[in-house]
Amino acid sequence: MFVKQGIFAALLSEEDMRKKIVAGNWKMNGNSSSIKCLVHEVSLGLGQIDNVGCILLPPTIYVPLVRDLIKDTKISLGAQNMFPKEEGAFTGEVSALMLKDNCCDYVLVGHSERRILFHEDEKFIAEKFHHAKEHGIIPILCIGETLAERQEGQTKEVLARQISAVYKKSENAFENSIVAYEPVWAIGTGLTPEPNEVQEVHAYIRELIASKNKEAAEKVSILYGGSVNKKNAHSILSMSNVDGGLVGGASLNAAQFVEIVQCIN
Ligand code: PGA
Repeated sequence: MFVKQGIFAALLSEEDMRKKIVAGNWKMNGNSSSIKCLVHEVSLGLGQIDNVGCILLPPTIYVPLVRDLIKDTKISLGAQNMFPKEEGAFTGEVSALMLKDNCCDYVLVGHSERRILFHEDEKFIAEKFHHAKEHGIIPILCIGETLAERQEGQTKEVLARQISAVYKKSENAFENSIVAYEPVWAIGTGLTPEPNEVQEVHAYIRELIASKNKEAAEKVSILYGGSVNKKNAHSILSMSNVDGGLVGGASLNAAQFVEIVQCIN
């Protein structure tokens, strides 16, 4: 049994739920040796940073490696994916129980790469979201509009639809969970919305949640993701409605990832 399990999750469920969070989504990158270096440098770089929670999301096969590497640090562990069944004939999939067994306190749900490349629909995403919560894993629900939807002025409509899909099962859906606003057109492109646009969209997401549950809306952390790097991190992540970032490409570079965490510390 590993001591780390649940420490940060417990922290986040306290009143300081909206403490800043930076999560590194490594996607399908890295190998044993690059990951050992990356985690070593990130944990050295983060040092005594206390008021920003840092979550690493490695490829599933490296979850046990990262679990062992971070066990004496304040870094938390999450997974990029999970299948919403406890066990059974689901070749190639990994369950919430398996993630928990390996100290994952978080899981990404609804990332646009899974929505688009793996055809995950809103019903399935909602199922994963609730299944994670039922098993004590905090889901990080990714939502966001495509470029075409943005150009047609449909951003709010898309976000409302993605949020309400999760609400279908429970009015308390967003208690003890995290939302990441990730405009699809900003992911991996180097493009980002203006900080005030992010601020406005996050306020809208919070309103959507407040319309069902005011307390959950105040407590839920809403992260921004999409081409966050050390240059734009401060201006975007320091907005009052932005509770941190979900960082892809830049999280593979330890120095840059640490700088992003430091700039919102
Ligand atoms: P990016 O990815 O930072 O490389 O744009 C973010 C994400 O997909 O979570």
